[in-house]
Amino acid sequence: MFEINPLSEALGAEVVGLDLAKPLGDDVFATVHQAHLAHQVLVFRDQQLTPEQHIAFSKRFGALSGHVFDQFLLPDYPEILKVSNKKKEDGEFAGLPQAGRRWHSDLAYTATPSLGSLLYALEIPPEGGDTLFNNMYRAYEALSDDTKSRIEGLKAEFLLGSGRKFYTDAERPALTAEQLAKVPPVHHPIVRTHPETGRKALYVSQAHTVRILDMPEAESEALLAELTEHSVQPEFVYRHKWRLHDLVFWDNRCCMHIAEPPPPAYGRHMHRTTVVGDRPY
Ligand SMILES: [Fe+2]
Repeated sequence: MFEINPLSEALGAEVVGLDLAKPLGDDVFATVHQAHLAHQVLVFRDQQLTPEQHIAFSKRFGALSGHVFDQFLLPDYPEILKVSNKKKEDGEFAGLPQAGRRWHSDLAYTATPSLGSLLYALEIPPEGGDTLFNNMYRAYEALSDDTKSRIEGLKAEFLLGSGRKFYTDAERPALTAEQLAKVPPVHHPIVRTHPETGRKALYVSQAHTVRILDMPEAESEALLAELTEHSVQPEFVYRHKWRLHDLVFWDNRCCMHIAEPPPPAYGRHMHRTTVVGDRPY
């Protein structure tokens, strides 16, 4: 038996007493799947997972994608992206550094953004390095009727690094020309309907949403800023303080997240798998 305990008023639940290293029976999987849809972020405590087991559990939810920063994929396991602030002996980062420093939803800059991501904590700092998640259903539902009708049907351009204008961190590697060519701008609705729950969620972010289509630039900037600010108010946010061997599985279709930098003195090393999702509608 295992427990599912809500973690905040906004979203998120922890799953205690479930071993993901073993294949889940269909009934248990259905319970986990429903809990994920209901809570949007699931924190599986105390997991001891090999890369194969991490991948096998992730694949129950769909096909996995690699990442445009392909230099940080785990050797022999291209489904796993290493996220790390640690450096190897040659001075190169051991994983993607400075990941997720702006509110975003993973792979929103691709034609078929991620359904969800599963991040596994292999090494965490004694303090700091929290990840915050927000509830984009609630953010949408709390908008005024005027704003809801104003944004109905609007689409935006999404681009990795969004506009690259936000990323000034010298430590984050630049995309090579070959990598850049893989991530051209894409267009998505800024309110999307979750394909499984049927609920509407806001879909804009600091990191990837560049501009609203068919709108003057100043108006678009103001509206994006207003929607982002609205959606990350404390009442919509859960702050996750990592424990070693947490596996956190969030729903990118109805949440954003942001990573706070760990103190530089401490290592933080994680493995991420990313489940491919549908084209937003
Ligand atoms: Fe992310």
